[in-house]
Amino acid sequence: MSWQTIDRKSVADETLGPGLSDAIKDKVRSFFPRYPSKRAALIPALHIVQDGLGYISLRAMRELAEVLEIPPSAVIDVATFYTHFWTHPKGRKTIVLCRSLSCELLGGKQVQEAIERKLGIGEHETTPDGEYSFMTEECLAQCDHAPCMLINEKLHKRVCPEDIERILADPDNDRLDIPRSDLYDAPARTAGPATKDREPTAVDAGEQPPDTKAT
Ligand code: FES
Repeated sequence: MSWQTIDRKSVADETLGPGLSDAIKDKVRSFFPRYPSKRAALIPALHIVQDGLGYISLRAMRELAEVLEIPPSAVIDVATFYTHFWTHPKGRKTIVLCRSLSCELLGGKQVQEAIERKLGIGEHETTPDGEYSFMTEECLAQCDHAPCMLINEKLHKRVCPEDIERILADPDNDRLDIPRSDLYDAPARTAGPATKDREPTAVDAGEQPPDTKAT
Protein backbone atom coordinates (compact mmCIF):
# COMPACT_ATOMS: atom_id res chain seq x y z
CA MET A 1 0.00 0.00 0.00
CA SER A 2 1.38 3.44 -0.83
CA TRP A 3 0.81 6.80 0.80
CA GLN A 4 -1.98 8.89 -0.59
CA THR A 5 -1.99 12.66 -0.28
CA ILE A 6 -5.42 14.14 0.31
CA ASP A 7 -6.11 17.73 -0.63
CA ARG A 8 -8.73 18.53 1.99
CA LYS A 9 -10.13 21.44 -0.03
CA SER A 10 -10.91 19.18 -2.97
CA VAL A 11 -12.55 16.30 -1.08
CA ALA A 12 -16.20 16.26 -2.09
CA ASP A 13 -18.63 16.03 0.81
CA GLU A 14 -20.17 12.80 -0.49
CA THR A 15 -16.76 11.08 -0.51
CA LEU A 16 -16.23 11.70 3.21
CA GLY A 17 -18.42 8.70 4.04
CA PRO A 18 -20.70 8.17 7.01
CA GLY A 19 -20.32 10.06 10.26
CA LEU A 20 -20.69 8.99 13.86
CA SER A 21 -24.15 8.35 15.29
CA ASP A 22 -24.97 9.65 18.76
CA ALA A 23 -24.87 6.02 19.98
CA ILE A 24 -21.31 5.58 18.71
CA LYS A 25 -20.20 8.86 20.29
CA ASP A 26 -21.81 7.88 23.60
CA LYS A 27 -20.11 4.50 23.53
CA VAL A 28 -16.73 6.11 22.88
CA ARG A 29 -17.33 8.54 25.77
CA SER A 30 -18.27 5.62 28.04
CA PHE A 31 -14.64 4.43 27.71
CA PHE A 32 -13.09 7.65 28.98
CA PRO A 33 -13.11 6.63 32.67
CA ARG A 34 -10.94 3.63 31.80
CA TYR A 35 -8.07 5.80 30.56
CA PRO A 36 -5.93 8.61 31.93
CA SER A 37 -6.79 10.86 28.97
CA LYS A 38 -9.25 10.98 26.08
CA ARG A 39 -6.41 10.56 23.61
CA ALA A 40 -5.50 7.25 25.29
CA ALA A 41 -8.94 5.89 24.33
CA LEU A 42 -8.18 6.31 20.61
CA ILE A 43 -7.62 2.64 19.73
CA PRO A 44 -10.75 1.28 21.47
CA ALA A 45 -12.63 4.22 19.95
CA LEU A 46 -11.49 3.16 16.47
CA HIS A 47 -12.72 -0.38 17.19
CA ILE A 48 -16.10 1.03 18.24
CA VAL A 49 -16.33 3.13 15.08
CA GLN A 50 -15.39 0.23 12.82
CA ASP A 51 -17.88 -2.06 14.61
CA GLY A 52 -20.58 0.56 14.17
CA LEU A 53 -19.95 1.76 10.62
CA GLY A 54 -18.13 -1.20 9.08
CA TYR A 55 -15.08 0.97 8.38
CA ILE A 56 -13.53 4.25 9.43
CA SER A 57 -14.49 6.96 6.97
CA LEU A 58 -12.80 10.35 6.66
CA ARG A 59 -15.87 11.99 8.18
CA ALA A 60 -15.78 9.50 11.08
CA MET A 61 -12.09 10.29 11.68
CA ARG A 62 -12.83 14.01 11.76
CA GLU A 63 -15.76 13.61 14.14
CA LEU A 64 -13.85 11.18 16.36
CA ALA A 65 -11.08 13.75 16.65
CA GLU A 66 -13.66 16.24 17.96
CA VAL A 67 -14.96 13.71 20.52
CA LEU A 68 -11.42 12.91 21.71
CA GLU A 69 -10.32 16.56 21.49
CA ILE A 70 -7.25 15.73 19.43
CA PRO A 71 -6.18 16.81 15.90
CA PRO A 72 -7.71 14.82 13.00
CA SER A 73 -4.15 13.99 11.90
CA ALA A 74 -3.66 12.02 15.15
CA VAL A 75 -6.67 9.88 14.29
CA ILE A 76 -5.68 9.24 10.68
CA ASP A 77 -2.10 8.38 11.78
CA VAL A 78 -3.33 5.53 13.99
CA ALA A 79 -6.21 4.41 11.76
CA THR A 80 -3.86 3.98 8.79
CA PHE A 81 -1.01 2.39 10.80
CA TYR A 82 -2.89 -0.77 11.81
CA THR A 83 -4.04 -3.05 9.01
CA HIS A 84 -6.99 -4.13 11.16
CA PHE A 85 -8.64 -0.77 10.55
CA TRP A 86 -10.28 -0.28 7.18
CA THR A 87 -10.49 3.20 5.75
CA HIS A 88 -12.69 2.14 2.84
CA PRO A 89 -15.91 0.08 2.88
CA LYS A 90 -15.48 -3.64 3.45
CA GLY A 91 -17.75 -6.61 2.99
CA ARG A 92 -20.11 -8.13 5.53
CA LYS A 93 -17.50 -10.79 6.20
CA THR A 94 -13.75 -10.25 6.20
CA ILE A 95 -11.41 -13.16 5.54
CA VAL A 96 -8.02 -12.69 7.19
CA LEU A 97 -5.49 -15.31 6.09
CA CYS A 98 -2.23 -15.73 7.98
CA ARG A 99 0.85 -15.04 5.84
CA SER A 100 3.53 -15.81 8.45
CA LEU A 101 6.10 -18.57 8.45
CA SER A 102 4.29 -21.66 9.81
CA CYS A 103 1.24 -21.05 7.69
CA GLU A 104 3.26 -20.25 4.58
CA LEU A 105 5.37 -23.43 4.98
CA LEU A 106 2.22 -25.52 5.29
CA GLY A 107 0.48 -24.20 2.19
CA GLY A 108 -0.89 -20.76 3.06
CA LYS A 109 -0.03 -19.39 -0.38
CA GLN A 110 -2.08 -22.11 -2.07
CA VAL A 111 -4.99 -21.32 0.26
CA GLN A 112 -4.70 -17.67 -0.73
CA GLU A 113 -4.80 -18.57 -4.41
CA ALA A 114 -7.89 -20.73 -3.83
CA ILE A 115 -9.67 -17.87 -2.02
CA GLU A 116 -8.77 -15.31 -4.67
CA ARG A 117 -9.82 -17.69 -7.45
CA LYS A 118 -13.15 -18.51 -5.77
CA LEU A 119 -14.07 -14.91 -4.87
CA GLY A 120 -12.45 -13.19 -7.85
CA ILE A 121 -10.83 -10.55 -5.62
CA GLY A 122 -7.35 -9.77 -4.37
CA GLU A 123 -6.10 -8.36 -1.11
CA HIS A 124 -8.08 -5.50 0.42
CA GLU A 125 -10.77 -5.93 -2.18
CA THR A 126 -14.46 -6.70 -1.75
CA THR A 127 -16.74 -8.90 -3.83
CA PRO A 128 -19.28 -6.99 -5.96
CA ASP A 129 -22.17 -8.31 -3.79
CA GLY A 130 -20.51 -6.83 -0.69
CA GLU A 131 -20.38 -10.22 1.04
CA TYR A 132 -16.63 -10.81 1.39
CA SER A 133 -13.47 -8.78 1.74
CA PHE A 134 -10.06 -10.41 1.82
CA MET A 135 -6.70 -9.60 3.36
CA THR A 136 -3.60 -11.35 4.68
CA GLU A 137 -2.11 -10.65 8.07
CA GLU A 138 0.91 -11.57 10.14
CA CYS A 139 0.76 -14.46 12.62
CA LEU A 140 -2.69 -15.11 14.08
CA ALA A 141 -1.08 -16.89 17.06
CA GLN A 142 -2.43 -20.28 16.02
CA CYS A 143 0.76 -21.60 14.40
CA ASP A 144 0.14 -25.14 15.66
CA HIS A 145 -3.03 -25.17 13.54
CA ALA A 146 -1.43 -23.79 10.36
CA PRO A 147 -2.51 -22.78 7.82
CA CYS A 148 -5.28 -20.82 9.46
CA MET A 149 -7.58 -17.93 8.72
CA LEU A 150 -10.30 -15.86 10.31
CA ILE A 151 -13.73 -15.15 8.89
CA ASN A 152 -14.72 -12.13 10.93
CA GLU A 153 -13.81 -13.37 14.42
CA LYS A 154 -14.16 -17.11 13.78
CA LEU A 155 -10.94 -19.08 13.40
CA HIS A 156 -10.61 -21.79 10.74
CA LYS A 157 -7.72 -24.18 11.41
CA ARG A 158 -5.60 -26.37 9.16
CA VAL A 159 -7.25 -25.06 6.01
CA CYS A 160 -6.45 -26.75 2.69
CA PRO A 161 -7.15 -25.22 -0.74
CA GLU A 162 -9.79 -27.95 -1.25
CA ASP A 163 -11.66 -26.72 1.87
CA ILE A 164 -12.28 -23.24 0.53
CA GLU A 165 -15.33 -24.11 -1.59
CA ARG A 166 -17.05 -25.78 1.40
CA ILE A 167 -16.09 -23.11 3.94
CA LEU A 168 -17.31 -20.24 1.76
CA ALA A 169 -20.59 -22.04 1.04
CA ASP A 170 -21.37 -22.30 4.77
CA PRO A 171 -23.59 -19.36 5.84
CA ASP A 172 -22.42 -19.83 9.44
CA ASN A 173 -18.72 -19.70 8.60
CA ASP A 174 -18.33 -16.63 10.83
CA ARG A 175 -20.45 -17.83 13.74
CA LEU A 176 -18.48 -18.12 16.97
CA ASP A 177 -18.75 -21.30 19.05
CA ILE A 178 -17.60 -19.37 22.11
CA PRO A 179 -18.99 -16.19 23.64
CA ARG A 180 -17.63 -13.03 22.04
CA SER A 181 -15.32 -10.98 24.22
CA ASP A 182 -17.27 -8.23 25.91
CA LEU A 183 -14.26 -5.91 25.85
CA TYR A 184 -15.99 -3.46 23.54
CA ASP A 185 -19.56 -4.29 24.54
CA ALA A 186 -19.21 -4.19 28.30
CA PRO A 187 -21.76 -2.10 30.20
CA ALA A 188 -20.66 1.48 30.16
CA ARG A 189 -18.79 2.67 33.22
CA THR A 190 -19.82 6.19 33.98
CA ALA A 191 -17.71 8.69 35.78
CA GLY A 192 -18.42 8.43 39.48
CA PRO A 193 -17.21 6.44 42.44
CA ALA A 194 -14.17 4.33 41.62
CA THR A 195 -14.76 0.61 41.32
CA LYS A 196 -12.90 -1.63 43.72
CA ASP A 197 -10.34 -2.70 41.10
CA ARG A 198 -8.98 0.74 40.34
CA GLU A 199 -7.99 3.97 42.00
CA PRO A 200 -10.08 7.14 41.55
CA THR A 201 -8.95 9.18 38.56
CA ALA A 202 -9.17 12.81 37.62
CA VAL A 203 -12.14 11.90 35.42
CA ASP A 204 -13.93 10.42 38.45
CA ALA A 205 -13.41 13.70 40.18
CA GLY A 206 -14.90 15.54 37.23
CA GLU A 207 -11.55 17.06 36.28
CA GLN A 208 -10.14 17.27 32.79
CA PRO A 209 -6.57 15.92 32.72
CA PRO A 210 -4.30 18.56 31.17
CA ASP A 211 -3.33 16.46 28.15
CA THR A 212 -6.94 15.93 27.02
CA LYS A 213 -7.48 19.60 26.27
CA ALA A 214 -7.96 20.49 22.62
CA THR A 215 -4.71 21.16 20.85
S1 FES B 1 2.27 -18.49 11.42
FE1 FES B 1 0.16 -18.60 10.94
S2 FES B 1 -0.76 -18.47 12.86
FE2 FES B 1 1.31 -18.21 13.32
